[in-house]
Amino acid sequence: MNVPVTPFAPAETLRAALAGLLDGLPPRQAAQAVDRLIANYRGRTPTDAPVLRDRSDVVAYAAYRMPATFEAVRSALDALAEAAPAGWAPDSHVDVGGGTGAATWAVAATWEGERPVTVLDWAEPALALGRELAASYEPLRSVAWQRSRIGSALTIESTDLVTVSYVLGELTEDGRRAVMDAAASAARSAVVIVEPGTPDGYARVIEARDRLIAAGFRIAAPCPHSAACPIAPGTDWCHFSARVSRSSLHRQVKGGSLAYEDEKFSYVAAVRFPAVPAPARVVRRPQIRKGQVLLDLCAADETLHRETVTKRHGTLYRAARDADWGDAWPPSSPD
Ligand SMILES: C[S@@+](CC[C@H](N)C(=O)[O-])C[C@H]1O[C@@H](n2cnc3c(N)ncnc32)[C@H](O)[C@@H]1O
Repeated sequence: MNVPVTPFAPAETLRAALAGLLDGLPPRQAAQAVDRLIANYRGRTPTDAPVLRDRSDVVAYAAYRMPATFEAVRSALDALAEAAPAGWAPDSHVDVGGGTGAATWAVAATWEGERPVTVLDWAEPALALGRELAASYEPLRSVAWQRSRIGSALTIESTDLVTVSYVLGELTEDGRRAVMDAAASAARSAVVIVEPGTPDGYARVIEARDRLIAAGFRIAAPCPHSAACPIAPGTDWCHFSARVSRSSLHRQVKGGSLAYEDEKFSYVAAVRFPAVPAPARVVRRPQIRKGQVLLDLCAADETLHRETVTKRHGTLYRAARDADWGDAWPPSSPD
């Protein structure tokens, strides 16, 4: 009897490939590379030359940051998939400023099957390591890794999906404008932007959101509408959280024994097709009290408000107890 071979899921394969990167690298050396990377990023971006200059920089980036950027992009893509028409999947993908390829793995983890994928970045060592990691996962072996600088000359070939993850923060205002305009004209179906979940990251996401709407896109997620964000500038920031398993390198660099950490991120998924955004979205961690759940929601009526769901709401109450920060509300089938 033939036993079907179940291929490894992308998330597990990526984890194993990243763990393999550190094999043979003395732990002290790996930790020093991460320290250097953090110091290089601190206060030095935007830069006029790549921060990721050599293999130890990119190994440190991949081992230390890629699991988190992968999970953040995967959460954003999950929300896009939920809002997209049933059965929709991108038939091609370009990842701009893709570095070691976190978003290509996230796309593979969200939609099965193979599609033409191109990763653009100006850092050759990042592209080389991305190619090396992708070799461990069959559907990503044919990804094209191309050197490309984001600037006024940037053009992106026509594609179904464009992702720009954790890149806008490294660009000047002109660079951000160039990448958004190129993404908007290249993407036939969707553009997904992900940034760190900080006030500045959120501000860049809003800037990108406005530009995409002006280019004719509508918002599929996280917002329940394509009108202006109801958060008054400077008062708060919309962000979400993705759980990331800590690698041994994480534990070594950050200390402590926690098996996971929470990556905070802001995002927007904008589409050209008719999406059905969530009726409302949970924008804070739900507060569970005795007999009630407090949900902070961003709603289709363009308001931010708190809803209290009590035991009297029956099925909805049970759904509220299971609701997570970032989920659509109410869930499409509360039972
Ligand atoms: C923080 S990393 C994010 C990498 C990847 N997208 C991820 O989510 O893990 C930022 C990436 O943007 C690239 N980048 C920054 N400025 C760039 C520019 N002007 N042109 C091309 N790539 C750029 C860097 O080389 C780096 O790979």
